Amino acid sequence: LWEPRHIIAKSIEHIRTEVGADTVLLGLSGGVDSSVAAALLHKAIGDQLICVFVDNGLLRQGEADQVMATFARHLGIKVIRISAEARFLEALAGVIDPEAKRKIIGRVFIEVFEEEAAKLSNAQWLAQGTIYPDVIESAGGKTGKAQVIKSHHNVGGLPEELNLKLLEPLRELFKDEVRQLGTELGLPFELVYRHPFPGPGLGVRILGEVKKEYADLLRLADAIFIEELHTHDWYDKVSQAFAVFLPVKSVGVMGDGRCYDFVVALRAVESVDFMTARWAHLPYDFLDHVSRRIINEVAGISRVTYDISGKPPATIEWE
Ligand code: XMP
Repeated sequence: LWEPRHIIAKSIEHIRTEVGADTVLLGLSGGVDSSVAAALLHKAIGDQLICVFVDNGLLRQGEADQVMATFARHLGIKVIRISAEARFLEALAGVIDPEAKRKIIGRVFIEVFEEEAAKLSNAQWLAQGTIYPDVIESAGGKTGKAQVIKSHHNVGGLPEELNLKLLEPLRELFKDEVRQLGTELGLPFELVYRHPFPGPGLGVRILGEVKKEYADLLRLADAIFIEELHTHDWYDKVSQAFAVFLPVKSVGVMGDGRCYDFVVALRAVESVDFMTARWAHLPYDFLDHVSRRIINEVAGISRVTYDISGKPPATIEWE
């Protein structure tokens, strides 16, 4: 029988045997996998775990603060927060191509993480929230097309120069099993059942060049959409939902005047494995409400569209 409690007990034993008195470093992203890995490791080795959380400036509204509140404050885990927004934005300036943006974001992440790791010279292990599907996907990626279509940077990304031994406590688990572990370990429901969020974050939800101004507008629009999905009980019924920033201007009327502002697209999908997806048939009244709120509350956005493309052929993300 598959029992979260037993899996946790077994993993803890295994982690303790492997790690001994060593120090373990973990890159916390705020996503489900690295969060569960952190909670599990903390339970196994306590303060021998040090988490590094890189704020790349491409996170959602309030996300960095939430991560700190959940892990540092609530769970008492040591988390080093690195604010690296400027560095990521500088590296992304002028870059339009989606794959190039992914590579840059992945590369800068590794640089920032490595620099931090070098300061923590007492660490011997690097823990990652790799789960079973990642293992399969990255294995396939060497020969197959999966990696070429979109190079995810969260698997096998960290270089050997770090000289750390790799620890992957979730390597044999599927997503739903990881979630059950997270719940058992006391992580909040909202975190455990959170929609997936891509490693490159808003970097691939701002079409073309990434600018701080765009990221700020997108964060506001996205937060309204997500808040309304929660309020109207749609969040858990869709598999993934978010706003996308379109760097095109469109004419509108606001009050007495004409405006000429940006456009956002809302995307919500239902999917089992994220390989195929159906656009979520959210009620018109709901979409109407969200659209009005975004246009009224986010100065700089004057038009909202809803994405009605299925996957295939459209991918879930726009880039
Ligand atoms: P697509 O857009 O390929 O997305 O239909 C399928 C799922 O993967 C997520 N995704 C990513 N996750 N790094 C990630 O960690 C990425 O570069 C990336 N691109 C897409 C996407 O959010 C969806 O859940």
